[in-house]
Amino acid sequence: MPTTTPTRAPTLRLGKWIHAALLLFHAATPTLCDSLFLLNAVPQNVNDFYQELRERAAPCPHSLAGGFYNIDNGTNTTSYCANDPHRPSIIYLSGVNGTLSNMDIDCDGVQGGSQDDGRCSLGRSPDYQDATAFQDIVQSYGVGISDLNTYIHPYVVFGNSGSKPGWKTFDPTDYGVKPLSVMAVVCPGNKMVYGIWGDTNGDDGDKPMVGEVSIALATACWGKNMTGDNGYDGMDLLYVAFTGIDAVPGKDGADWAAKDYDTFERSIQPLGNKLVQRITAGAGGRRVTSSWAVAGGVLAGGLWLAL
Ligand SMILES: *[C@@H]1O[C@H](CO)[C@@H](O)[C@H](O)[C@H]1NC(C)=O
Ligand SMILES: *[C@@H]1O[C@H](CO)[C@@H](O)[C@H](O)[C@H]1NC(C)=O
Ligand SMILES: *[C@@H]1O[C@H](CO)[C@@H](O)[C@H](O)[C@H]1NC(C)=O
Ligand SMILES: *[C@@H]1O[C@H](CO)[C@@H](O)[C@H](O)[C@H]1NC(C)=O
Repeated sequence: MPTTTPTRAPTLRLGKWIHAALLLFHAATPTLCDSLFLLNAVPQNVNDFYQELRERAAPCPHSLAGGFYNIDNGTNTTSYCANDPHRPSIIYLSGVNGTLSNMDIDCDGVQGGSQDDGRCSLGRSPDYQDATAFQDIVQSYGVGISDLNTYIHPYVVFGNSGSKPGWKTFDPTDYGVKPLSVMAVVCPGNKMVYGIWGDTNGDDGDKPMVGEVSIALATACWGKNMTGDNGYDGMDLLYVAFTGIDAVPGKDGADWAAKDYDTFERSIQPLGNKLVQRITAGAGGRRVTSSWAVAGGVLAGGLWLAL
């Protein structure tokens, strides 16, 4: 029915006001509501870089390794790319025709705790393993956790290993990326999550895959519709790793024993804000130090978005 009844308009308007008031309330009281997840606004320099990649038709100019898949039946056009072929300060995933990566869910490592709502239960993730790649380093921190927890730690699966014949591999440590270093993940809609390089892709499947994160990270980007067997299929997510020891928070630089994602994320935010200043448009190789990049980083430091 195309006709509208004018008497309904005030009710709608009132509904809008209530909705707006609720949003304000939620934004102002993040600790009262456990369905809020900390996110960074995307600083200008990172957004410029992201837009540049989305508009780039050609494969990245400095590919360190290529031939990776985001989906089993997709194309092997995703590469690990560097901003500088000799001394990269950032390494990121990129495809062709403006594609980046999707987001599958990794449930590996420890589960349980107050944040475990069953979305990553055994059996929901097709390739579940009970340990993450750097479990021994996590344990060596001696902070009372035996491994990363997929519900708490926003970890990223990065790098590909395997010994099947012809299998494509890439070891980020060959280029100076350190285990348990901070990474940045840009999700569409002005959302950026700082993650930890916490796991690697193996050769248990048929194809060398990329684009996988813990359920904590996926939930921050998309909400609780993420589960062990339901990720995000769009090819517009950006994963960036940072080389060098100064990207590693180490034992004392992160709240490894945090009981929830927000607490952990907050603990690595200062380091993340510093690292993303390395990201500059023109990453065909040029490193432009723009004052806008610095300003963007500083701005991001003060801006948290609540979902
Ligand atoms: C992608 O797969 C095709 C067919 O298997 C192969 O010929 C090609 O070399 C692969 N591309 C890369 C970059 O590995
Ligand atoms: C891959 O398979 C899924 C499900 O079978 C389908 O929805 C999707 O369109 C396929 N993608 C490609 C690139 O063939
Ligand atoms: C990229 O775009 C070109 C030109 O439109 C097309 O021929 C090619 O198949 C595309 N490649 C992929 C992997 O989608
Ligand atoms: C998850 O839910 C959010 C909020 O309702 C929605 O915007 C998003 O598209 C959903 N994502 C997926 C992958 O289903």
